[in-house]
Parts: sequence; structure tokens; C-alpha cells
Amino acid sequence: MAEFNGGGHWHLDAVFYQVYVRGFKDSSRDGNGDLRGLIEKLDYIESLGVSCLWLMPIFPSPLRDDGYDVSDFLEIDPSIGSLADFQQLTEAAHQRDLRVITDLVISHTSDQHHWFQKARQGPDSPFFSYYVWSDSDDRYQEAQVIFSDTEHSNWAWDHQAKRYYWHRFFSHQPDLNYDHLPVQEAILDVMRFWLDLGIDGFRVDAVPYLFEREGTNCENLPETHAFCRRMRRLIDGEYPGRILLAEANQWPDDLVAYFGAGDEFHMAFNFPLMPRLFLALRREDNRPLIDCIETLPAIPADCQWATFLRNHDELTLEMVTDADRDYLTSEYARDPRMMLNVGIRRRLAPLLDHDRRRIELLYSLLLSLPGAPVIYYGDEIGMGDNIYLGDRNGVRTPMQWSDDRNAGFSSADPSRLYKPVLTDPLDNYQTVNVAAQLRSPASLLHWLRHQLRLRSSQPVFSRGEIRFVQVSCRSIVAFTRSHRGTTALLVHNLAATVQPVHLELEAYAGLRPVHFSGNHGFPQIQAAPYFLNLAPYESLWFLLEPA
Ligand code: BGC
Repeated sequence: MAEFNGGGHWHLDAVFYQVYVRGFKDSSRDGNGDLRGLIEKLDYIESLGVSCLWLMPIFPSPLRDDGYDVSDFLEIDPSIGSLADFQQLTEAAHQRDLRVITDLVISHTSDQHHWFQKARQGPDSPFFSYYVWSDSDDRYQEAQVIFSDTEHSNWAWDHQAKRYYWHRFFSHQPDLNYDHLPVQEAILDVMRFWLDLGIDGFRVDAVPYLFEREGTNCENLPETHAFCRRMRRLIDGEYPGRILLAEANQWPDDLVAYFGAGDEFHMAFNFPLMPRLFLALRREDNRPLIDCIETLPAIPADCQWATFLRNHDELTLEMVTDADRDYLTSEYARDPRMMLNVGIRRRLAPLLDHDRRRIELLYSLLLSLPGAPVIYYGDEIGMGDNIYLGDRNGVRTPMQWSDDRNAGFSSADPSRLYKPVLTDPLDNYQTVNVAAQLRSPASLLHWLRHQLRLRSSQPVFSRGEIRFVQVSCRSIVAFTRSHRGTTALLVHNLAATVQPVHLELEAYAGLRPVHFSGNHGFPQIQAAPYFLNLAPYESLWFLLEPA
């Protein structure tokens, strides 16, 4: 196991598959997906061409925030399996060359965690200082309320402790007090526990909010970065080869700070890029994308972005201007039910009106722009959502494996399922499912597997420098990726109409674009603009080779 984890820098070339274990495959017929079910599906995951699983929280939890409300950091939720199942999963995954990371929720616990239960007993409890208490609810007024649709304050009254406690998310998720050193030690021990079990790293949840200081918005404080460096020292010193991936929904400068000087996180989600992919597509305009990538500060060597289109949360619109937020909301969330907090709670396919060309275009950008792509379970088959389920549950419905009972997800009685399968006319599991797409060579699933294979055949995609190519019309986004003498040219049409375009490729005069399909028929590049014609939403992937 140690040898497997030890393969350095694997995260640079990784492709992640995000799995909601409860929604993936039920092996025990209780209506909940579980670790054994996930093990059964490892062949499928391997066949996708991804290299690392990211498991959403698997710890015991009252499930008031789908496991992000942890009541015990050192166990597996019994509805999902056992520690033995977990070990079996990591071993089975490693045998297939797949790595496994899990969510690590460090900023808060559930109010059911025994730390909080004991802390509530008052200042004499050894756990009292594990949480942030106050006699009044007016401290840290500058801190934003994140779950603004549900919470009105970051303070909640505890009847037993007769004090207010601090929480950045739901009021049943009290924040841990990182000023209290035993909390830091306890969290480092939680990390060791899972790392000893063979885990390859963590997606660290809600990183910016670890400390509170009056007069600040209580995000990204220097003390928070100091603790991130402690986590990293633990990894480097005791578990080299494992990785830390930051969830920090922040503007570029604050976000890039989580890479530190290469001494904090190995990876961070590219939150600024994600909404701009949707913006560029809808506006048929390359500017939001190019501006975003060109203005992102450089990240240290051996660090990597994690890029994504969708995940288990709402499509957050915090990292765009007010005008762009209004535009994205009006274009992508036409029904108010589609909104939650500052985001859109929809899956990829419904966001794009189930338009296969637009889905492929966004995937093509995701796979060819810098970063390690993260694919959300079900989005590889264009699964739909259910906006009539509350909170973010509509994008967490059971994986659609086949047209069998409960979409092949579970053989429990349908009414026992943790959430209903999709049955509406557009997204129903009888039509949208893995088995059907495996049978159809033209399916989205086959297309995506093929693209992922192409991507992994060329290190330019994961390691190459990006350079945008000047184009004669703004609905085309064209760039090169170059690494160790190999250059790929990627051209995308963001428009719903056919687009003729001139590309300024003089720097590559004498080379010939060879399409990844093997087509050598494209003309050699000359010392004059290169002409291409792109179909609506078309993407072209070329290698530039000597003529
Ligand atoms: C997770 C959410 C969760 C929140 C509170 C986030 O950033 O992605 O799903 O509700 O943290 O833990």
C-alpha cells in the first residue's frame, strides 16, 4: 500500500470521479448505496478512464447535511458499511490503479458529535473550548451567512450551555475552535487514522473558515493558512505521495494563496473558472474564459487545479460580478425553484437543455484546459435532476444503471430508497442509464470514455503550458498546450451557429494540424492566418506535427 501511495505527483495527471456513495449502488437492499455496492462498480469506474475516486462524506452522521455533519470522524456510517468494507474498497481500487480520496470536514462537526454534546455541559467540560462560544450574538458581524436561504445568523443559541455558538453553515453544524490547540491535534489525528487505512488524500471541506477574528470577514486568515501548512507538513513528513485538495470558494488571489509556496494544498478547485465556462457558452463569447485563465495567478510547480463543471452542491455564482450573476441566473435558472442560496441547483445535462453538442463542448473544454478534471457521478451519462426535492437533493438522486427496478441501483422496495429515482419524461431511468449507453456506440458515455482516453494518451493536457491563439471572432476559443516538444491545438466553437474563423498560428508555420482521429488532411500552417470552419458547438483537437 505504501508503495502505491508513494508514486509522486500523480495528482498532476489525475482525473477524478466524484461518488456520492449513498446514491451509487446499494448492495444490501436497504435503499441506500454502500461501500460494497461501490466495490461492485469499480470495473465500471475503471472503464471510464478516471484515475481517482473522491468519496463524499462516509462518516457517521445524522444526515442533516448529507454527511457534511459528522458525528464521528473515526467510523463509517453503518448505512454505508464498515471500516473493513472501506479497507476492501481502497485495496480493490488500488489493484486497478485507482486512487481514493474522501471528504474531510474540518471546519465543523454535527451537533450530535460527542465533542459538542460534552462541550454543551459548560466551561468545566474538557470539550467546551472545542467550539466557539459567546454571550452575545453580535460578534464577527462582517462574516457572511453562507446558507442564506436557511440561516439568518452565524450564531445559534444553545439552551444547555446557555450561550451562543458559532456556525458558518447550518445551525446544527457548530464550528470547531482552531484557536484551541487540542482541536488542531485532534484533526491531525483524524487525518492519520484514514491515511493509515490507505487513503490517498482528502478533499478538505470549507477550508477558508477555520478561524475567527473581529474586524475581518473571518475567511482566509493567516492563522488558517498556518494550520493548512501543519496539515501539509503531516503529509510530507509521514505520508508522502498523498494529497490535499482544497475546497475554497474564493476569488483568485485568495484562492491561489491555498497553494502557499507549495507548502499548503497540492490541489484546489478552480471556482472562478467554473461559472465562466457556462457564461462563455451562453454568451457565445470567449472573453470570460480567456480573461479568467490569463489573470489567474501562477501556481507553484507540483500543484494542480481541480477543474469541474458540476458537483453535489448548487452551481455557485459567488465568484462572478453582480451583472454576470443576474445573467447566469436568468439564462440557466428560469424557474425560481432552481435557485438555492447564491447558486443553481441543477445537473449538467438539464442546465444545457439536454443538448448533446453543448454537453460535449463543455466537457471538451474541461478536458483540454489546464487542471485535473473532476466528473460528478451520473454526469457521464447526462443524468437529469429533480428540482422538486429540497436543498441540493435534486442533484443527488440514485445512479441510473439500467431500466430495471429502481434504475438498477437497489432491489429494495421503491419507497425505501433514500431518494426517488428520476421518472420524468426527459430524464427517466428507463431511457437515461448506463446499460443503454453501453449498448449504443454513439452514446455520451462512449464519447466521454473516448475523450478521456485521448486526453490521457498525451501529457500535454495535464502538464502543458497554455497559450491562447488570436482568433477573428469571439465565439471561437482556441489555445495551444505545449509540453516537452509536443504541442496540441484545441479549437472550440461556443456558438449555436456555424463559424468561419482565422487563427493567428504564424508561430507554428511549417507544422500541420493532425486531428486526434488520425486525420492528416488538414493543410499545413503558413505564415498567414489559418482558416477553419466550425460547426455549431464543435470542438477540434489537433496535434501539431512536422509537415
Ligand atoms: C460542501 C457542502 C456542505 C458544506 C458544509 C461544503 O462546502 O460541499 O455540501 O453543505 O460544505 O459542510
